[in-house]
Amino acid sequence: MLAFLGATTLMLVAGAPWVLPAGGTDLRSPENVTVSITDDNFTLKWDSSSESVRNVTFSADYQITGMDNWIKLPGCQYITSTECNFSSVKLKSVYEKIKLRIRAEKGNSTSPWFEVDPFIPFQEAQIGPPDVHLEAEDKAIKISLSPPGTKKSVMWAMDSSSFVYSLVIWKNSSRLEERTKTVYPRDKIHKLSPETTYCLKVKARLRSPRKDGFYSPVYCIKTTAKHQLPSPENVEINAENQVYVLKWNYTYENMTFQAQWLHAFLKKIPGDHSDKWKQIPNCENVRTPRCVFPQSVFPKGIYFIRVQASNGNNASLWSEEKKFNTEMQTILLPPVVNMRPINNASLRVCISAPTESENNSVNQLYPLIYEVIFRENTSNTERKVLEKRTDFTFPNLKPLTVYCVKARALIENDKWNKSSVFSDTVCEKTKPGSTSKASLIAGICAAVLFIPVVIYGVKFLWQCISYVFFPSSKPPSTLDECFSEQPLKNLLLSTSEEQTERCFIIENTNSVTIMEENDQIDEDHRKYSSQTSRDSGVYSNEDENSGCKIGEDESQLAGVFKLDS
Ligand SMILES: *[C@@H]1O[C@H](CO)[C@@H](O)[C@H](O)[C@H]1NC(C)=O
Ligand SMILES: *[C@@H]1O[C@H](CO)[C@@H](O)[C@H](O)[C@H]1NC(C)=O
Ligand SMILES: *[C@@H]1O[C@H](CO)[C@@H](O)[C@H](O)[C@H]1NC(C)=O
Ligand SMILES: *[C@@H]1O[C@H](CO)[C@@H](O)[C@H](O)[C@H]1NC(C)=O
Ligand SMILES: *[C@@H]1O[C@H](CO)[C@@H](O)[C@H](O)[C@H]1NC(C)=O
Ligand SMILES: *[C@@H]1O[C@H](CO)[C@@H](O)[C@H](O)[C@H]1NC(C)=O
Ligand SMILES: *[C@@H]1O[C@H](CO)[C@@H](O)[C@H](O)[C@H]1NC(C)=O
Ligand SMILES: *[C@@H]1O[C@H](CO)[C@@H](O)[C@H](O)[C@H]1NC(C)=O
Ligand SMILES: *[C@@H]1O[C@H](CO)[C@@H](O)[C@H](O)[C@H]1NC(C)=O
Ligand SMILES: *[C@@H]1O[C@H](CO)[C@@H](O)[C@H](O)[C@H]1NC(C)=O
Ligand SMILES: *[C@@H]1O[C@H](CO)[C@@H](O)[C@H](O)[C@H]1NC(C)=O
Ligand SMILES: *[C@@H]1O[C@H](CO)[C@@H](O)[C@H](O)[C@H]1NC(C)=O
Repeated sequence: MLAFLGATTLMLVAGAPWVLPAGGTDLRSPENVTVSITDDNFTLKWDSSSESVRNVTFSADYQITGMDNWIKLPGCQYITSTECNFSSVKLKSVYEKIKLRIRAEKGNSTSPWFEVDPFIPFQEAQIGPPDVHLEAEDKAIKISLSPPGTKKSVMWAMDSSSFVYSLVIWKNSSRLEERTKTVYPRDKIHKLSPETTYCLKVKARLRSPRKDGFYSPVYCIKTTAKHQLPSPENVEINAENQVYVLKWNYTYENMTFQAQWLHAFLKKIPGDHSDKWKQIPNCENVRTPRCVFPQSVFPKGIYFIRVQASNGNNASLWSEEKKFNTEMQTILLPPVVNMRPINNASLRVCISAPTESENNSVNQLYPLIYEVIFRENTSNTERKVLEKRTDFTFPNLKPLTVYCVKARALIENDKWNKSSVFSDTVCEKTKPGSTSKASLIAGICAAVLFIPVVIYGVKFLWQCISYVFFPSSKPPSTLDECFSEQPLKNLLLSTSEEQTERCFIIENTNSVTIMEENDQIDEDHRKYSSQTSRDSGVYSNEDENSGCKIGEDESQLAGVFKLDS
């Protein structure tokens, strides 16, 4: 639901025409004057108010703020039609205000000038379609895009590598199965069928300032016949102790494989980088569908990896390119869950980092969310909730009843789609006593909670969780307890390995954010963050940094502490 900014033509001024006798002829000023700018094409359009007069022409002047005199607008002198192209105007900068005026003329008589509101060309400029070039493979289409405007574009000189491209692709035979994708200037659309015609269109947009572009024309291309040798599939890379293990699946035996890598940032830079792929050491001419190489091969960063099979004479096409973030390849370990009754109707759950921290657990590097499954021991009905916090309470329970809980950690970004296995199940009995009166709300929302949950963006679910667990907008007092049990000092002194009873340390993730900036991931990340912070209602001031998760930075911690206390 992007706001479609800038796509409407700029209606500058539609003032009343002036009627003044000039040189004997009644010539009126043009009306409905509009300026439209697409990339580097500047067009001025108007309506003639003197249609009854024959052989009228129009001329326009311009002025740049700070100049005293008007200059003839190139391309817009003695125009017989009602539009002119002034793309050849020489502007010092597209960020500088410009003023235009236009009048009608015939022989020696002229109309009064019609003056257009001053405008900044860059602000009014719309993004034209990118140039699209396609190449078919059997199960993929290679696309290469040139940024909107010409190579020498003045308008987008600062932005041409900031464009984000959205592509819509469909089978020509079925417009219904449309796929929308964000693509790099050089990219491949995978998972297509051989010998099938696909059609696609692409548009570019800018994030800052926010501008949406026009779609390209529709391009259609037919994928080739099935390649003799299929491409390797399911390429997967994982960190194991000091090495990376790269694995893939292949249909046939007795093949040799090679694997290559590319810096991910190159994908963002327009142009052909196909010659920048490099061989991964130890993954050249391997005869197994896997290879192992030292972690030192890849310094911290984001990469793409691809694999090719060969039978000595012929080679397959390259596999799908696997995005590989060195920080994300480690295994996500399951959390440790503790539960204990806090009164006659509530169980408090605390989630902490696994004791296992030898092999680079990412649990401490990324903001995690937890999928928590909670049920009454004797019931098969499960409540599945998503929690950002590591310390929370299930209220409104039956007294003297055994409830069980288990949880798994998820990385907050669906691009990576990482989840741990579930923790051990922990069961605990509530204390004796009468049930709390307020089980009505829980009942209403429980029906929703039982529905298997789509992990992201389930607005209603978040609201429901908030509603059930925090009917008031005040964070639950258990958070304070969490802090008081663990003195501030200790938290600060704790290393990430040193596990605390109920709290663990989340290291500051600035580095991650920076890396994401460099990558298309960040958009989805931001989208998700803003969505959750918007949707989670009362969660808003106990976001990632709150609860039991403590930032490394002291000022940040202090801030969080203040917020929650
Ligand atoms: C200017 O636009 C208005 C509204 O669209 C229209 O009614 C009017 O006729 C236009 N003026 C001329 C001279 O065409
Ligand atoms: C309009 O201009 C054309 C040539 O420029 C000329 O032949 C014609 O006579 C003119 N018409 C009027 C009404 O002035
Ligand atoms: C406008 O004029 C420029 C040359 O000044 C030209 O390159 C461009 O193609 C023209 N644009 C349109 C839309 O005709
Ligand atoms: C326009 O004015 C010039 C002198 O200023 C004169 O010589 C010429 O005859 C005039 N033309 C018309 C069509 O009035
Ligand atoms: C700008 O002008 C050029 C040359 O006429 C043309 O090829 C291009 O399509 C125009 N761009 C737009 C967005 O109108
Ligand atoms: C797409 O399909 C239509 C009919 O379904 C056909 O007429 C057209 O030629 C196809 N286009 C391409 C590029 O194959
Ligand atoms: C290869 O395929 C098998 C089943 O066909 C699957 O279990 C395995 O996970 C796949 N390997 C990879 C690396 O995806
Ligand atoms: C992590 O460590 C455990 C025990 O030290 C080991 O069993 C496991 O294989 C390791 N995992 C990885 C991915 O290295
Ligand atoms: C692969 O090679 C081995 C020995 O080189 C041979 O025994 C086996 O039959 C071959 N397998 C296939 C599927 O060709
Ligand atoms: C290699 O491909 C060619 C055609 O592309 C084919 O004629 C030949 O049989 C293939 N060789 C092997 C060993 O598959
Ligand atoms: C949970 O219920 C099962 C039978 O349904 C029982 O065997 C088990 O002891 C119960 N667990 C606890 C912790 O009470
Ligand atoms: C259960 O707890 C509530 C609130 O703390 C209290 O009002 C109620 O008396 C307790 N019930 C029993 C049986 O202790």
